[in-house]
Amino acid sequence: MEHNKSYCIKTFGCQMNENDSEKLSGLLKAMGYTVEDDVNKAGLVILNTCSVRENADVRVFGNIGAFKTVKKTNPDLILAVCGCMMQQPEIVAKITKTYRQVDLVFGTHNLHLFPEILNNYLVNGKRMVEVWEDSNGIIEDLPVDRRYSFKSFVTIMNGCNNFCTYCIVPYTRGREVSRQPEKIIAEVKALAEDGCVEITLLGQNVNSYGNDLGEDINFSNLLRDLNTIEKLGRIRFMTSHPKDLTDDVIDAIADCDKVCKYIHLPIQSGSTRILKAMNRKYTQEDIIERVQKMKEKIPGVAISTDIIVGFPGETEEDFEETLKVIKVCEFDSAFTFLFSIRSGTPAATMADQIPEEIKHTRLNKSLDLLHEISLGINKTYLDQTVTVLAEEPSRNKLNRLTGRTETGKLVNFKGSHEDIGKIVMVKITDAKTFSLDGIKVSQEETHGATITHDDPIPANS
Ligand code: SAH
Ligand code: SF4
Ligand code: F3S
Repeated sequence: MEHNKSYCIKTFGCQMNENDSEKLSGLLKAMGYTVEDDVNKAGLVILNTCSVRENADVRVFGNIGAFKTVKKTNPDLILAVCGCMMQQPEIVAKITKTYRQVDLVFGTHNLHLFPEILNNYLVNGKRMVEVWEDSNGIIEDLPVDRRYSFKSFVTIMNGCNNFCTYCIVPYTRGREVSRQPEKIIAEVKALAEDGCVEITLLGQNVNSYGNDLGEDINFSNLLRDLNTIEKLGRIRFMTSHPKDLTDDVIDAIADCDKVCKYIHLPIQSGSTRILKAMNRKYTQEDIIERVQKMKEKIPGVAISTDIIVGFPGETEEDFEETLKVIKVCEFDSAFTFLFSIRSGTPAATMADQIPEEIKHTRLNKSLDLLHEISLGINKTYLDQTVTVLAEEPSRNKLNRLTGRTETGKLVNFKGSHEDIGKIVMVKITDAKTFSLDGIKVSQEETHGATITHDDPIPANS
């Protein structure tokens, strides 16, 4: 019987992981495969995994487990597992030993070889496990199947050199390798020509882009070059590491009109002692100085962050320092994580692991503070007219769309389907902790009395 050429990809990780899924999808479409969301009908299911925290691992194993049953009703199904977890030999060993339902295993460094791996399997029917330890540089020109026509990810570098003591990423993604600027610029130009309004530049630490290339090749110059691409509307980027956030980068964000006045700047902790133990290479004073500099140079800039609570040895006083930094910096939003042991990382074996109960108490305390600040900042948007990239229909609500402001705020607003993919003007009518509500206004209505304001000044500053 002819093999069922339909596929379903489940993505468990970050934007880089999502971007990898788009590449896998592009490769499969080039091979004549079509998308099938129902795993019971698909000929091929790919689980693209993440190992950043323990609960990500648990979810993946839960999913793999469930395929034992799915395979009973759909015996011809090919199950492939890839992504960051596959770069950990002990995980691959566990899968090959106990999970017979997995047919193909490959890693982050040999994703481009997936068509070959799949074809080999189709020819000889034998389980294939092929994971490279590191990359052979960046593979250019892979077909990408973009989820949205009007916005796109563009990976500018792979890997990480920082080895924060809690983090598995440098082990799963290898060392930093930057793409040549000409390749990035050509890709973005082609995307803009193709109707893409917004791009998000991706890397574990975009501020160190180009350190492995020539002298003038750095992130701020890349932003300036991309800003000249006429048809492009917005440039976003993530993630920025505070230690590499130079004045040059801040100036480039301030100067470039297409670069969104928004930065995701994970601080992880506000305690200099804990930051040292985490190997983050900056202090509490550095964070506050960088954030103040950004607010001064980029009026209305929105800043979000990541925080880990319960790192080994974190005392109540250390945690108070984190709360203090949150108050001083007034982050627009934050992802807050319980410290999770990742075997193989230095923090996994550090003394003074923090009991789960204390981690949860600290998490809740930091969330209360963060939410209060978010709501305060969001309220400053009331009655303002802001630009929003309309992205999709609002879930369950007729005639409503969702989109984001330049500053990354989620907006639910009244608008029509034809607006999807366009940057429209929206007047904000209500502010909540995690989103804003509004009504689309026509360009003409924004002239005259209403000011166009994408840069509200926080009420409490
Ligand atoms: N490169 C980015 C982040 C990548 S991982 C950066 O350096 O900021 C995304 C987030 O997961 C991190 O910012 C961190 O807050 C969190 N994280 C990473 N490892 C973790 C661990 N072992 N336990 C809890 N959170 C972790
Ligand atoms: Fe992990 Fe640190 Fe690298 Fe971010 S900078 S990916 S937290 S090692
Ligand atoms: Fe997860 Fe790998 Fe991204 S570990 S967070 S998918 S780089």
